[in-house]
Amino acid sequence: MFRLDGKVALVTGGSRGIGRGCAEALAECGAKVLVNFVNGEAAAREVVDGIVARGGAAEAVRFDVANVKETETAIEAAIRSHGKLDILVANAGIAIDGLLLRLKDDDYAKIFDVNVRGALVCAKLATKSMMRAKWGRVIFVSSIVAEMGNAGQTAYSASKAAVVGAAKSIAHEFASRNITVNVISPGFIDTDMTSSMPAPVRERLLQTIPLGRTGAAKDIGSAAVYLASDEANYVTGQVLRVNGGLYM
Ligand SMILES: NC(=O)c1ccc[n+]([C@@H]2O[C@H](COP(=O)([O-])OP(=O)(O)OC[C@H]3O[C@@H](n4cnc5c(N)ncnc54)[C@H](OP(=O)(O)O)[C@@H]3O)[C@@H](O)[C@H]2O)c1
Repeated sequence: MFRLDGKVALVTGGSRGIGRGCAEALAECGAKVLVNFVNGEAAAREVVDGIVARGGAAEAVRFDVANVKETETAIEAAIRSHGKLDILVANAGIAIDGLLLRLKDDDYAKIFDVNVRGALVCAKLATKSMMRAKWGRVIFVSSIVAEMGNAGQTAYSASKAAVVGAAKSIAHEFASRNITVNVISPGFIDTDMTSSMPAPVRERLLQTIPLGRTGAAKDIGSAAVYLASDEANYVTGQVLRVNGGLYM
């Protein structure tokens, strides 16, 4: 069960954190993984080298998801070179935190360019290949704050809620093509993005997580493997919450 042999997967933002967890988990199950990065070339190479050392197949691919032309060129080239793209994990994301009264217009634009438009550009290109193969898996990475909200994360929460709405629409559009489209909604996962949280805030947060711990990137990787697998054939348009029970 959960084998992905012969599948080609692209994980945007696969060089660190949750993306790395997804890339490693998909490779472990047999997929060839394209590990996207924008700045972290060394980190992406480390992910690729680790996968290859464990007997898997992976390749680092640089593009900035906020740059439409660059993303189109890179994904089209990857599809030409590997013949297809079966699985997309649209994970690349940024957070710019700030209370509503302090947010700048520019902050919304930056967040939406990466978290929303970037994810949708990737999905548009990936689904073209998936339609030809009559099989595909699109997995978006949203966030618990899309449903729960969080003071100081208005722009970020809005972008993550937008992804959920878009994913459900895309799920409708592609269901007849045997392409499933789902969302993983992580809770608090230990990555660079969450590392600056002050210790007392983290302590308070921990007390509100029913499973009593923060999540690891591999917890999200396992969810990505499930949604990418044939075992999830009948699952589309869903939000899979992986949050230790923080939001039910
Ligand atoms: N950590 C959490 O608790 C949490 C919770 C809910 C949702 N999420 C979501 O999960 C996703 C991953 O978060 P994370 O915590 O793993 O973040 P992270 O540790 O900051 O890693 C972000 C990744 O995204 C890549 N990236 C950023 N901007 C990009 C761009 N314009 N084009 C291509 N790649 C780009 C980075 O690449 P470089 O290495 O090249 O910079 C890096 O690989 C995000 O969408 C985030 O919103 C995280």
